[in-house]
Amino acid sequence: MNTQARLEALIGTIVKDAQLHARWLNTFSFLEYVGFRKIVKSQKAEALNATILTHAVEEGRHALRLKKLAMQIGGPAFETYAADVLLCGEEAEDYFQSLDHQCEAQFSEYGEQECARLTYLYVTWLVERRALEVYGLYKSALAGTEIAQKLDGLLTEEIGHLRQVESELAISDPQHAARAPLVIGLEARLYETFLGALDTALTPQAAHP
Ligand SMILES: [Fe+2]
Ligand SMILES: [Fe+2]
Repeated sequence: MNTQARLEALIGTIVKDAQLHARWLNTFSFLEYVGFRKIVKSQKAEALNATILTHAVEEGRHALRLKKLAMQIGGPAFETYAADVLLCGEEAEDYFQSLDHQCEAQFSEYGEQECARLTYLYVTWLVERRALEVYGLYKSALAGTEIAQKLDGLLTEEIGHLRQVESELAISDPQHAARAPLVIGLEARLYETFLGALDTALTPQAAHP
């Protein structure tokens, strides 16, 4: 089964159960929050421009929007990112942190500022591509519902982030064509690990004798 079919099957299980569904939404809220935090922390103020600031603010807004949906479905217990109201929260954060570290390692020969700039661009590029795939499949699974409608604005902003970072990479990284398959491979392995964790979490454990 390819990763899209695996994710579709997992989403099918998740959206049938309100608790799981709220934990799923809260986990993506958490990832949006981690994205927001990463952007803010990774850029020195003297290098932070209006485009990057807009990106950070929009990721923060996505975190809040998904958090509100999680609370709408699951109630006030979903107000925080405590482990028991997330779905594979630790593994989700591992995906993001490992991607960041592995990309940073690719650019370690550059000076600090250029390394931070390339890491930001590549991590954003990879995460936005994946976010569009995951949110797109999730939205299709909820077609016609109020939640699907509420995802529209978020998806539009993610498409904007992807376009912006793609054009920036095309202009400012002459090695983009050579680097792209390498970093795509890194991200794909980390994403598969996360899907494996979701699989395990959602597979009913065999009853112990
Ligand atoms: Fe986002
Ligand atoms: Fe984004």
